Amino acid sequence: MKNKLIAGNWKMNNSVSETKSLLTKLLPLIKDTPNSVVVCVPFTDIYAAGQLLKKSNVSLGAQNVHWKNSGAYTGEISANMLSEAEVTYVIVGHSERRQYFNDTDETVNGKLKAALNAGLTPIMCIGESLNQREQGVTEAFLATQLEQGLKEITAEEAQKIVFAYEPIWAIGTGVTASAKEAQDTIKFVRKQIASLYGEDVAQKVYILYGGSMNDANAFSLLNMPDIDGGLIGGASLSAEKFAAIIRAVEEK
Ligand code: 13P
Repeated sequence: MKNKLIAGNWKMNNSVSETKSLLTKLLPLIKDTPNSVVVCVPFTDIYAAGQLLKKSNVSLGAQNVHWKNSGAYTGEISANMLSEAEVTYVIVGHSERRQYFNDTDETVNGKLKAALNAGLTPIMCIGESLNQREQGVTEAFLATQLEQGLKEITAEEAQKIVFAYEPIWAIGTGVTASAKEAQDTIKFVRKQIASLYGEDVAQKVYILYGGSMNDANAFSLLNMPDIDGGLIGGASLSAEKFAAIIRAVEEK
């Protein structure tokens, strides 16, 4: 098994002072973990978080990026701005952005390309709604999200992307996909990546599970062969809970 990648998505939480206090508590709890850790913070916390994470084993991530390098796009942030601010990861296409801020497969595609061009590692989110799962169209929907979102992205670029399968019905609801459900769906996602880019890329890329992952269910989810890590919302706001998830599975 690969070492795991555990990413926290703070969403719209934590001011600068809260950021300092959370990271100061978190870092000593995970300093010798073999797993990779990322925190995706609000834009206003990037500087403060960057200062604290400088000599740590935790990477800095953002939660969104624009598809253009610069221009008249009030309120937006470009990939170059992020990379100069020492951000290394960026979440692209989170379901909350698709739902509330009009992210589409097409804009996700543009954002992925912009992030890759700037040398950032995108965390590309995909996931079905409850309605889609109940109607049995989950696989077809995920296949479309992947195919459209990855349009014109080469295999060499695709292997730099981290994928996150986040069923919308499990986000912030306390309802987690069972370990088997998450494993089966992520296995399908890997198969789709193989059909787009070949088995080698599919085996190399990290595919995370996200949706109500917490310190109680992390072990069973992360022990699944195709689940390479987690994208954690609520539980990443607690240093103790986030550290427990990071430490749930450690390959020596
Ligand atoms: P929760 O862990 O709060 O369900 O959020 C998951 C998520 O959306 C991470 O991106």
